[in-house]
Amino acid sequence: MNPIIQARAATGDEGASEASRLFETAFSHSPEGVWSAPGRVNVIGEHVDYNGGPCLPIALPHRAFLAVKARDDRRIRLVSPQTAERVDEIDLDAMGPKGTAGEVPHWAAYIAGVAWALERDGRGPLRGFDAALWSCVPRGGGLSSSAALECSTAVALDELNGLGLAGTAEDPDDEGRRILVEAARRAENEIAGANTGGLDQTASLRCRAGHALALDCRDMSTRQIPFDMGAVGLELLVVDTRASHSLADGQYGRRRADCEEAARILGVRELVEVDDLDAAMTALDDPRLRSRVRHVVSEIARTRAFIDLMGAGPLEGSRLDAAALLLDDSHDSLRDDYEVSCRELDVVVGAARAAGAHGARMTGGGFGGSAIALVDSDRLEATARAIRDAFASEGLDEPRFLSAVASGPAGRTR
Ligand code: GLA
Repeated sequence: MNPIIQARAATGDEGASEASRLFETAFSHSPEGVWSAPGRVNVIGEHVDYNGGPCLPIALPHRAFLAVKARDDRRIRLVSPQTAERVDEIDLDAMGPKGTAGEVPHWAAYIAGVAWALERDGRGPLRGFDAALWSCVPRGGGLSSSAALECSTAVALDELNGLGLAGTAEDPDDEGRRILVEAARRAENEIAGANTGGLDQTASLRCRAGHALALDCRDMSTRQIPFDMGAVGLELLVVDTRASHSLADGQYGRRRADCEEAARILGVRELVEVDDLDAAMTALDDPRLRSRVRHVVSEIARTRAFIDLMGAGPLEGSRLDAAALLLDDSHDSLRDDYEVSCRELDVVVGAARAAGAHGARMTGGGFGGSAIALVDSDRLEATARAIRDAFASEGLDEPRFLSAVASGPAGRTR
């Protein structure tokens, strides 16, 4: 492993052992099993999921591990070393959405919320459970650490309650997993109070190892696109800026509200239906809404073009140049028109490009979190150093580097 890549992914065995040990210490009995789910990076297609657009995520090798045992009552008890919190008081019959009397404390909402959402979807009544969480998905890094919690819970509850929706990680039931995606998304939207689209949960549950997932958010249909950057001498470098990022703080919701308002003015159900950008620009008076729509419509076109490039042959020569341009344009559009970048993300992108990356962009919701750069494998270390130096000279805290190899979906680990 390259020394500059600090955030190593735990193996399945390591993660399962950590979660089991924690479970046994906290609850003085053994778990029935350990389930896990990955974080994700989105290669391109940002802030378009809730507009019906296409996205192209891969699952990270970094996963959240959940050791679980079902209970005979309706109580949920949770423990995690990373949050240094134990939550004992969740009653499935009393919990409810954020802002109501049954509100669940922060990180526990992602886990308990999935049980709540499955029941609302008519899959209950479910059994209560004890669970211990151990995760190596960087928290707050814009890499879907919360979706990893939701989706590890979804596959655990599926099996422990005999719902029969998930299949296995090796042989996933894609139709059943669409239902689990909806429960995980609902947990995040209603119980945790972050009004996100379905990109992260879909990636965590429906990605396959060695593939990127071409997700069409009009109907959440997917296509597996072979994604082996190593085969063409490339690596996808992920840089966690460690700048704080929260999707529940209002900015994300405001972008979403802008898109909904623009769609209403333009007379479309979702912005994916806008096929004449010039006409849309003329129809919108508000310069802010014009910028938002310009990002969404152009990002949808870029993502479709990127998916076509991936299908047209190995990312080499002029195809690589074209892909690089799409990644770069995506970032610039998110920075200038959508206004969801920040100084740290722009420093990563600027330094990566100056070091010769084939495209660099922020990934995920923005306002902090992570950026990605497509780099020649033999330039990985030099690029990471250049980014680290740029952070130092800007007086920023050191970023964290991950290597992104397209990995497998949520499932049982032990
Ligand atoms: C966050 C959300 C996703 C998506 C991205 C931006 O990750 O959870 O639903 O909107 O931001 O593409």
